[in-house]
Amino acid sequence: MNIAKIVRQNLSSLRDYVPGKPIEEVQREYGIKDVIKLASNENPNGASPKAVQAMMNEIQNQANFYPDGNCFALVQKLAKKHQVSDTQIFVESGLDGVITLLGSAFVEPQDEVIISLYSFPVYESMVTKMDAKSVMIDQTADFRIDIESIAKAITPQTKMICLCNPNNPTGTIYTREVFESLLAIVPEDVLIISDEAYYEFADDATYPQSMQYLEKYPNLIILRTFSKVYGLASVRVGYAIGHADLIGALLKVREAFAVNRMAQVGASAALDDDAFVQKTLEANRAGRQKYYEAFERLKIKYYPSQTNFIFFEVSGSGMEVYQAMLKQGVIIRPLASQGLPHHLRISIGTSAQNNRAIAALEKALI
Ligand SMILES: Cc1ncc(COP(=O)(O)O)c(C=O)c1O
Repeated sequence: MNIAKIVRQNLSSLRDYVPGKPIEEVQREYGIKDVIKLASNENPNGASPKAVQAMMNEIQNQANFYPDGNCFALVQKLAKKHQVSDTQIFVESGLDGVITLLGSAFVEPQDEVIISLYSFPVYESMVTKMDAKSVMIDQTADFRIDIESIAKAITPQTKMICLCNPNNPTGTIYTREVFESLLAIVPEDVLIISDEAYYEFADDATYPQSMQYLEKYPNLIILRTFSKVYGLASVRVGYAIGHADLIGALLKVREAFAVNRMAQVGASAALDDDAFVQKTLEANRAGRQKYYEAFERLKIKYYPSQTNFIFFEVSGSGMEVYQAMLKQGVIIRPLASQGLPHHLRISIGTSAQNNRAIAALEKALI
């Protein structure tokens, strides 16, 4: 059997997504029991207790029934929260799922998709899967998405621009002013994707509130997730907000039951738990500050973050620092696979986890 003849050719150029190393793997490989993971920007405070209770009830009483494929109750609630029509909301199993379907719904093989070089790798995978062309644009010297260069890269073949604000893995933002300058010049048949997985953590006054541009720019699609501030990464709920006709195209390509029952009720309940969100944001702010102080003390270059993780730079090999921390039971994210051999990303954990990670980093640098 000639596998190369059977598998779609474009998949040979698909780069493997390297997820954060699982805790169990480090326990096995290094024989360490007490391992902490600060590699996937999860919520270290758990999930909203209201969401957990709702999910428990659902699994006890409804696990045998298919979920509502339209996510009716959750869509209504999100429409109300964002003050848009329910026809403007598309819920999927995580933003990863939404991004894949953005490809299925909109990207054709002759299309170009503009992507910032150091950003969320799933955009590029989506483009490769669709057999289209990723146009990668370098970032500014301070690791921000370079909106000016992106604007210059638009051609008649451009179908989509994938923006991530705040950006993963750099934790940086672009401002309202530059965003507006892009919106103003992008042709209306080019989609602008604003991935705002870390929206709630951004507290810079210049951060653009993209929702306010939706009406004027129907080619704008905003992405949000329950995986970060709401602490529901395991159950997989993400959503897109956009023009009803674009949302209609996404509805055409989705699976019938992509968002399971537990996810739907969990996300719904999480929306009512403002206390949990506030607790998460406060702990995150304090953790961020603690890392900044440690980085300054250790003379490590870091990039002030608008997210729940911090991007930093070491003079030697990032991979070696990562491995030296692994040996101490602390998993962070090296970024060599994204072309950044001296950079790493650490998720902000609980106060105890942050202390342990800082001590491990200090030791790793010796
Ligand atoms: C920028 C960005 N977009 C999307 C995702 C995927 O989120 P989800 O868990 O909703 O699939 C992540 C996850 O880390 C992310 O960092």
